[in-house]
Amino acid sequence: MTQEQWTTVDRYFTDLLVPTDPALDAALQTSAAAGLPPHNVSPNQGKLLLLLAQIQGARTILEIGTLGGYSTIWLARALPSDGRLLTLEADPKHAEVARVNIAHAGLSNIVDLRLGQALSTLPQIAAEGHSPFDLIFIDADKPNNPDYLRWALKLSRRGSLIVADNVVRDGAVVDVTSSDPSVQGVRRFNEMLASEPRVSATAIQTVGSKGYDGFAIALVTAD
Ligand code: SAH
Ligand code: DHB
Ligand code: MG
Repeated sequence: MTQEQWTTVDRYFTDLLVPTDPALDAALQTSAAAGLPPHNVSPNQGKLLLLLAQIQGARTILEIGTLGGYSTIWLARALPSDGRLLTLEADPKHAEVARVNIAHAGLSNIVDLRLGQALSTLPQIAAEGHSPFDLIFIDADKPNNPDYLRWALKLSRRGSLIVADNVVRDGAVVDVTSSDPSVQGVRRFNEMLASEPRVSATAIQTVGSKGYDGFAIALVTAD
């Protein structure tokens, strides 16, 4: 199996199941034109995020790692008009591109983008009393994933859904001796999910246009 096949099959499913959306297409175009890294979820993964948020009946969403706002737009589209999505981004250039993309998608009233290191903005958000969030999407710097999970638990309730991207990393996740801080962060995150009595979790490997990676999903089962 090759990357080319994975990309072809992703295109097949995307053509069938993911209707073209001008604002989402524009978000990818402006992100690429601005030189942002192509780390956005793929279109069929974005649709998965939308479906998860809809299944969850989410009214409030927290996203850690905005980039150009592509996943943000997918998630915000699941919300009712009085819903709220807070998204955290450390890079001013990414945030600027995202703000334009979110506005172009007509979602500025729903989406609140906070510029800053997430470990600085998360305590502020907690203090502002926005929580609990119905869904939390963790997709920023992987070395901080253990801390992001701690915050996600703090900012959730029984029934909240926590989703984390990139928990497989080309299979490197099973490398006990890896010196890659991202692999270590993801491994520690997975171990925390395993030992945390307040969540029921699983993880799934994926292949597709973004290569070989995966998602973890955790349902908060106790306050
Ligand atoms: N969720 C996006 C992709 C996010 S890529 C999508 O699917 O469309 C990861 C993002 O996290 C990058 O934009 C990066 O700048 C941001 N990031 C990295 N470290 C961060 C930190 N400490 N706090 C907040 N954001 C951070
Ligand atoms: C990277 C980050 C992501 O969130 C992603 O989905 C893919 C790649 C990265 O930092 O390499
Ligand atoms: Mg990601």
